[in-house]
Amino acid sequence: MPSRRQILSLLAAAPVLAPIRAYSAAPAQLVPTPSCADDDDLTPSQTEGPFFTPNSPEKQDFASEAPGGERITIAGYVLTQDCRRVAKALVELWHADETGKYDNDGYKLRGHQFSDAEGRWWFNTVVPGLYPGRTRHFHVKVQRPGARILTTQLYFPGEPGNAVDTIFNDALLLDVTSGGDGKFGRYDFVVR
Ligand SMILES: [Fe+2]
Repeated sequence: MPSRRQILSLLAAAPVLAPIRAYSAAPAQLVPTPSCADDDDLTPSQTEGPFFTPNSPEKQDFASEAPGGERITIAGYVLTQDCRRVAKALVELWHADETGKYDNDGYKLRGHQFSDAEGRWWFNTVVPGLYPGRTRHFHVKVQRPGARILTTQLYFPGEPGNAVDTIFNDALLLDVTSGGDGKFGRYDFVVR
């Protein structure tokens, strides 16, 4: 299982790097990039779906709750539209296990965290299984302190189901790479 340090270095080394390199300066020196100064680049919201359970625990490591699943670390930044990193943003994740089932009685594969001082979030978990009617997806909620909650979903590139799932939106694709520690999926949330 990757350590926090390894995850943060993966995040720093992830391929979608143009914005991140720009953020290596102190926040006050950040120059907004056109790609995230545009309203169109707000992370789109999506349906919560039928399987959300409120009051999840604060938890970033889900992988041990689905030992048969394929490990994936998902991570990224929470950003404002002018590309500032958002610390202490709520990031909540819930998803199906490797067989496509949700834990609707407890909090397996359900949890939330707050982005760190650099605006980073990450979860160690497993690749969600498929269930009828949907392509492969994670469910997330993101909330900048004091702001409205963004409810959305994240998707996997190359999934056959993406073409037929009417909810799927390619603006919500994880950037997935594979390394020695398993898969790594990168997504930056852009919130109001
Ligand atoms: Fe779902």
